[in-house]
Amino acid sequence: MKVGVFDSGIGGLTVVKSLLEHQLFEEIIYFGDTARVPYGSKDKSTIIRYGIEAVEFFKNFELDMIIVACNSVSAYALDEMNESASCPVIGVIEPGVLATANALKDKDSKVLILGTHATINSKAYEIGLNALGFNSLESKATPLFVPLVEEEILSGEILNATLKHYFANTEAPNAVILGCTHFPLLAPVLSTHFGMNTKLIHSGDAIVEYLENKFDFYKQYANPALKFFASENPESLRRTAKKWLDV
Ligand code: DGL
Repeated sequence: MKVGVFDSGIGGLTVVKSLLEHQLFEEIIYFGDTARVPYGSKDKSTIIRYGIEAVEFFKNFELDMIIVACNSVSAYALDEMNESASCPVIGVIEPGVLATANALKDKDSKVLILGTHATINSKAYEIGLNALGFNSLESKATPLFVPLVEEEILSGEILNATLKHYFANTEAPNAVILGCTHFPLLAPVLSTHFGMNTKLIHSGDAIVEYLENKFDFYKQYANPALKFFASENPESLRRTAKKWLDV
């Protein structure tokens, strides 16, 4: 199994980390559109165009599947990407919705959805959760977390001030959807902030669960081949991959 993983930048490496932990793929080709990140502030038609261009890039490889790690692209461009790809294109929203529903027994549970402006404006998570009977939902665009993670500010004063800025009036929910590639890196600090009773839903874990339910994986690959591509400064992406993924 050969998979392409697409993100607007480096954040999708958090999804690659989950794929590596579960040893699902023989080869992983990562493409981060670092020249045009962030996508989360762009409009729907631009995000769709970038998604289709990513499919074109992946046509250079014979892939069995493309995983869209980026929530903003998953929210807007999956249909169009599937139309232009010759392999399945899987996004992170549906897996995230299913993982949330699996994690919560009570349909009255409070769910806080975090993401970029694009993801939150799309209402993709709300629509999915409403369809499964979850209606106690709050969503919040928290784009300042993206550059903080890129700067590796994962604790300390600036992050605490940002948490206060976004969540001063937010009660601890039963679950928080980390609806942006970068947010899993903030899981420890969000867990401390909301408390141990709040479940955090991570796109990487959610997509692994989803793939394992949907497809038959006959083998595990302990040492998959990894290739990293970026539209700008690929060396920096490779350095981050080395650090975050320990590869
Ligand atoms: N990858 C984006 C997402 O998951 C976050 C960064 C961006 O705004 O491009 O929505």
